[in-house]
Amino acid sequence: MSDNTKTDLRSQPRSCYCGEVRRSHIGQRLVLKGWIHRRRDHGGLIFIDLRDREGLCQIVLNPQEMNPEKFEQAHRLRDEWVLAIEGVVRERPEGTVNPNLPTGEIEVVADRFEILNVSEPPPFKLDEYASVNEMVRLKYRYLDLRRPEMQRIIRGRARFVSIVRRYFDSIGFVEVETPILTKSTPEGARDFLVPSRMNPGCFYALPQSPQLFKQILMVAGYDKYYQIARCFRDEDLRANRQPEFTQIDVEMSFITRDDIMRVMEGMIVTIYRELQGREVPVPFPRYSYSDVMLRYGIDKPDLRFGLEIVDLTDTIGEGCSFQVFRKVIESRGAIRGFCLPGGAAFSRKQLDDLEKFAREQGAGGLAWFKAGDDGVQSPVAKFFEPPALDRLRQKAGLGEGALLLVVADKEEVVCNTLAQLRLKLGREAGLIDSNKLAFAWITDFPLFFYNTTEKRWDPAHHPFTAPMPEDLPLLESDPGRVRSLAYDMVLNGEEIGGGSIRIHDRETQRKVFRTIGISDEEAAIKFSFLLEALSYGAPPHGGIAMGVERMVMSLFGVDSIREVIAFPKTQSGTCVMSGAPTPVSEAQLKELFIRTIEPIKV
Ligand code: AMO
Ligand code: AMP
Repeated sequence: MSDNTKTDLRSQPRSCYCGEVRRSHIGQRLVLKGWIHRRRDHGGLIFIDLRDREGLCQIVLNPQEMNPEKFEQAHRLRDEWVLAIEGVVRERPEGTVNPNLPTGEIEVVADRFEILNVSEPPPFKLDEYASVNEMVRLKYRYLDLRRPEMQRIIRGRARFVSIVRRYFDSIGFVEVETPILTKSTPEGARDFLVPSRMNPGCFYALPQSPQLFKQILMVAGYDKYYQIARCFRDEDLRANRQPEFTQIDVEMSFITRDDIMRVMEGMIVTIYRELQGREVPVPFPRYSYSDVMLRYGIDKPDLRFGLEIVDLTDTIGEGCSFQVFRKVIESRGAIRGFCLPGGAAFSRKQLDDLEKFAREQGAGGLAWFKAGDDGVQSPVAKFFEPPALDRLRQKAGLGEGALLLVVADKEEVVCNTLAQLRLKLGREAGLIDSNKLAFAWITDFPLFFYNTTEKRWDPAHHPFTAPMPEDLPLLESDPGRVRSLAYDMVLNGEEIGGGSIRIHDRETQRKVFRTIGISDEEAAIKFSFLLEALSYGAPPHGGIAMGVERMVMSLFGVDSIREVIAFPKTQSGTCVMSGAPTPVSEAQLKELFIRTIEPIKV
């Protein structure tokens, strides 16, 4: 034994991480430091699983190796106390080897330990199998983050960002930080505002994205910019949205859409290769917006499975007397559907449930057609003359044993209902291979969508997106038909990134502002710096931003965005751990020249 009573364990550096001890250490004397994951008191011997970020190591405290007073102290050790130990690594006795643990072949027989800190009893067990209420996890996030599963994701995210940085650095991109205290950037959400003490009555907006600044960096000649950029959007939160999130923000000059797609595909290939040893095939397939809306009913299709939608509007005509369909045709709506192979076996109850689901999505109903060996069975078959039914069957590709589901309504309703039905049935029929990576580019989005509530045109992406040159003449006469040079990257039914070629001349930018109801005066107030910059030799440019959280979710197979953020917000935008947001003192408000009013209670 060494003269181990002399040096203080507290100040002694550890020999390695607990999770790193291996057979090769057998016979060596090590100092380890970590948290007590579990303590098993066997009267004579005490076993401790000591844990740190690299894993667990079994420590054996033996009364024969320690003075009795010290050993007595060992009985009082509890979960999550912080401990330093010193001892000799030995092979575990036969029958006690744990093949599930990287350190499972060894244990450390400690002759010394020191309590570095005590802990309250943790509100939940930290082993990875414990299912704990999420609010409790978020309140005690520091404990939750100690869990191996959280460590895997948070450290995986760090590696992800580091790979992205290396990739862009290696191909000549310059990382530039853009301001957090800035002016409103229109990305379709509300701004978070920050009052300015030095400019009473004035507010900064937190950036919804670095959009304007990255364009200005192109005017400034930086040519290739990227940033791992924090963005802030005050919008209603969903499973894949947070009020603050991170983008891989990219902008390039003198390029085309294809150049940007190539750079981004290269990034994806690098990430999957370095992080998971997977080869992602490139180039990704490209679909136009109108194509995916027709075939999948949605602009972010899950392409891991088929069940493609077929347009039946023109097929149903002559020989069909079903009033619902006839009315939809007259009012220039759409009749579309898709076939589910094997679906002819669905029970009446299953079909009723599907119809209910379709109604919940906004459709007026759901017509179904079963193809059995005795022909087509459907509640609406009686309205079809035999040739009309044959035509329908042919067009829809309704093979024997399959079920055809048809929705007739306004085009948006048909698209949305069928898209949701397709996803539901794809999932339920087990058609989605969770190992598959279905990347795609969606291109040729409309430049504007009509906002029926506000009765005006809204930018489909953001107002700096360039129109397709051939559609420019329609900008004033028929804005709804103008397509844009925007593109989204989609992965397994999720939009993980989006960008566009930008407008780089002042005149087109003005026209687009006018179309969306931003007058020259308003544009001058909101975006004068951009408009001015565009008049000082702006190069043709374009870019994209990728959602870091959404990519990390997919890489690590988690469903909630909160799992990939160390300190996330809840659905109502609060941080359960810190309690933010909180009221502030009168004095603070006074200093900012702010008076609050009571929210109106309804
Ligand atoms: P966009 O608004 O499409 O484009 O955002 C780009 C990507 O950011 C991710 N994202 C989010 N992730 C988590 N929570 C949110 N609330 C959230 N909002 C967006 C998505 C999305 O695809 N300036 C443009 C990009 C450009 O044109 O270059 C922009 O911000 O993955
Ligand atoms: P009804 O005439 O309402 O009894 O409907 C007869 C069948 O047509 C039912 O299966 C309805 O679900 C279906 N149906 C009704 N409206 C629509 C619609 N807009 N699109 C597709 N099917 C519909």
